Amino acid sequence: MNAQIDHNLEEIRRFRPSPEFAAQSVAQESLYTDAADDRLGFWADRARELHWHKPFTKTLDWTNPPFATWFEDGELNVAYNCLDRHVLAGHGDRIAIHWEGEPGDSRDISYAELTAEVKRAANLLTSLGIEAGDRVAIYLPMIPEAVVAMLAIARIGAVHSVVFGGFSPDSLHSRILDAEAKLVITADGGYRKGRAFGLKDTVDAALGKGAPSVAHVLVVKRTGNDVAWEDGRDLWWGDEIAQVDADHEAKAFPAEQPLFILYTSGTTGKPKGILHTSGGYLTQAAFTHRNVFDLHPESDVYWCTADVGWITGHSYVVYGPLANGATQVLYEGTPDTPHPGRWWEIIEKYKVSILYTAPTAIRSFMKVGRQIPQKYNLRSLRVLGSVGEPINPEAWIWYRHVIGGGSIPVVDTWWQTETGGIMISALPGITDLKPGSAQIPIPGISLDIVTDEGESVSGTDGGLLVITEPWPAMLRGIWGDPERFKETYWEKFGDKYFAGDGARRDEDGDIWLLGRVDDVMNVSGHRLSTAEIESSLVAHDMTAEAAVVGAADETTGQAVVAFVILKERQTVSMTNEEASEQLRAHVARQIGAIARPRQVFIVNELPKTRSGKIMRRLLRDLAEGREIGDTTTLADTAVMQSITDQVR
Ligand code: PRX
Repeated sequence: MNAQIDHNLEEIRRFRPSPEFAAQSVAQESLYTDAADDRLGFWADRARELHWHKPFTKTLDWTNPPFATWFEDGELNVAYNCLDRHVLAGHGDRIAIHWEGEPGDSRDISYAELTAEVKRAANLLTSLGIEAGDRVAIYLPMIPEAVVAMLAIARIGAVHSVVFGGFSPDSLHSRILDAEAKLVITADGGYRKGRAFGLKDTVDAALGKGAPSVAHVLVVKRTGNDVAWEDGRDLWWGDEIAQVDADHEAKAFPAEQPLFILYTSGTTGKPKGILHTSGGYLTQAAFTHRNVFDLHPESDVYWCTADVGWITGHSYVVYGPLANGATQVLYEGTPDTPHPGRWWEIIEKYKVSILYTAPTAIRSFMKVGRQIPQKYNLRSLRVLGSVGEPINPEAWIWYRHVIGGGSIPVVDTWWQTETGGIMISALPGITDLKPGSAQIPIPGISLDIVTDEGESVSGTDGGLLVITEPWPAMLRGIWGDPERFKETYWEKFGDKYFAGDGARRDEDGDIWLLGRVDDVMNVSGHRLSTAEIESSLVAHDMTAEAAVVGAADETTGQAVVAFVILKERQTVSMTNEEASEQLRAHVARQIGAIARPRQVFIVNELPKTRSGKIMRRLLRDLAEGREIGDTTTLADTAVMQSITDQVR
């Protein structure tokens, strides 16, 4: 266990909800008792808060585990639930999105306007031959068209696969191929850190590697930079959308209609296409969004800072908030452009009342200092949320005091791409908050902490986090690979979902997450696979062997640290520093900038067991500057000394 977590475990502060907050709380204690009395009935009631074209009569079918269906015989339209429903209820004038571009341009879009745009986009997709069940890849910056595209795809029963705009041509290419996307929606570029970056050129490079399924590329004009054009294949979004009908009726689709695929890193080199469907997913996204953030849609302004390229952007930028008729901020750029107070300026401008962000962002603001946020009026804030990695108590307290003014709730939410929605979190207004702990399962979620053999741990022992009952927003599988779905999550414990995280309960029964127990790293709240980065390093001409570890990092949680053995001839032609720099750039090019190693150490050997397995644990000790642990199982116990000499 690392020092930071040890520190977490000593945390004893508690913060009771204020009586004023509790009095207006959306969530009520009865949620817990209702869910405990009749878990399936509880979820069926939550589902009935959505609009069903055809009501369901069955709640859960778990007769063929691990393949679940929820609300199977019901029919709904996800986009209708996020749009038309609110307009018909008289909220058409309510702002759905306050969009803020990085250069300072902005747009306010009402529910009526968003609905109209999505209707046109749905007609456009249909005119391009996209039908229910077809896959469409989205590679866009954080602009309103990203939300419009997702909802238009959902509206016609097609399946989106959003690829984060920071991924490389190779990463985009493999995702397009795996999903056999028929269409790619992109932009000429986007703004980041004060500069326009290209996106269409990345799509061109990806498709240049061969993608027979793709018939068209729709391009949104954002930055106005020059783009290459393939007549017949490439179409301007703006030109095309102007030509289609404005009217579009949302048809009903089965509750289990696939809604999206989202790729995430696992323990092997190949990212997994996590598949989510419609009715259960939307039920849990909407319920958790309303209750975890205490959403009052008529008065709150909500802001989740995640990119739509990640699951947080799917569930808590697009589907949860829009299903709830929330008003939200969507921001294109980076937190420090053009000045370090940009986020706080946005909160002041739009009077944001609910902020949902990641510990890594909070820690980088802490580093810059409280004098920056203190220049702005942040008194509109009333709920703060955290996601993506454990939040250390210091960051929690800073968030509550410096950003929240000292008295508002901070909720730490644990979940995953696979879970689709929040699984563990306090409910503000009900729960006594404890900095650093994600606390308790949300109502209707059953989980446990077990030993390697699957027995519940006793008392406060650490163990593995498992989910013991199916939940509405659970992944329905890995796209095209049912075997991998079973192996990855279900084989270890049979009927329990293995999350891949370590956890423990404290004396009060509150849950503390202890980080991943597999070869998945968490860098700035983003999941990266050691195997994927290792295979990228080994794919470089000069690499003989590579080992990658996630080392604790003060700001990003973990950082990628690589140990590389060069091929013989390389060592004469360049210095280790040059080789290391080239390899870092190579990984960024191959996978994306988020995967660029913090350090690449050039070494002569790697620590291996007699059976040839690399002992990453020892490399992690070294990367974190700790004393090297037990080396007795190494084939050659002198190896660690020689690596240490080379690295330090
Ligand atoms: O290790 C856990 C960590 O992030 C992993 C899931 O990553 P991803 O699928 O990319 O989704 C991130 C956003 C939901 C988990 O297995 N994680 C996420 N939230 C927390 C967390 N670890 C501790 N505390 C959290 N609140």
